[in-house]
Amino acid sequence: MIRFALPADAAAISDLYAPHVLTGTASFETEAPDTAEMAARLARVQGKGWPWLVWDAGDILLGYAYAAQFRDRAAYRATCENSIYVAAPAARQGIGRALLTALFDAARAAGFREMIAVIGDGGGNHASVGLHGSCGFVQAGHLTNVGQKFGRRLDIIYMQRSL
Ligand SMILES: CC(C)(COP(=O)(O)OP(=O)(O)OC[C@H]1O[C@@H](n2cnc3c(N)ncnc32)[C@H](O)[C@@H]1OP(=O)(O)O)[C@@H](O)C(=O)NCCC(=O)NCCS
Repeated sequence: MIRFALPADAAAISDLYAPHVLTGTASFETEAPDTAEMAARLARVQGKGWPWLVWDAGDILLGYAYAAQFRDRAAYRATCENSIYVAAPAARQGIGRALLTALFDAARAAGFREMIAVIGDGGGNHASVGLHGSCGFVQAGHLTNVGQKFGRRLDIIYMQRSL
């Protein structure tokens, strides 16, 4: 059920991501990217040779995870940041862990050696902190009040895992 994303997945990926943007605090985006924008993001990641995985349940995508270089400057080339989203109705069924575990191998194959999770609403995002902690990440930093969404000021937590 886990496979690399295809360009044709862009609409399903944007549909999956939109509720997280519009109702959640894990993403610091406030406007959901449309299909064209998601297609551009997917093309950029894959064009760089970086992995973008989806959980394909046959007629619907229930999750996705990708890795992209943590920061643009060249010396960061072996360090990636991951992004992972699971559809809310499919939460806590093991999809996140399966995607993230598969992403480790794919990211390593792409040349990455360190993975950073930048967890939005870190103090309140028990699911993401729990997922990453259960997959071998350790906390590497905590920035306070760096985001603002829904009238709240939000922290981010950095977690890191060697690949
Ligand atoms: C974080 C997220 C990807 C987890 O996906 P998931 O498929 O629900 O997670 P899994 O079912 O694989 O859970 C794996 C482990 O994560 C932890 N976990 C998952 N949800 C949790 C929760 N709500 N509270 C605490 N721990 C949780 C647990 O350790 C769990 O293992 P267990 O079920 O054996 O106890 C999902 O909740 C999500 O999409 N959240 C919103 C977006 C987000 O925060 N993305 C991460 C951005 S950095």
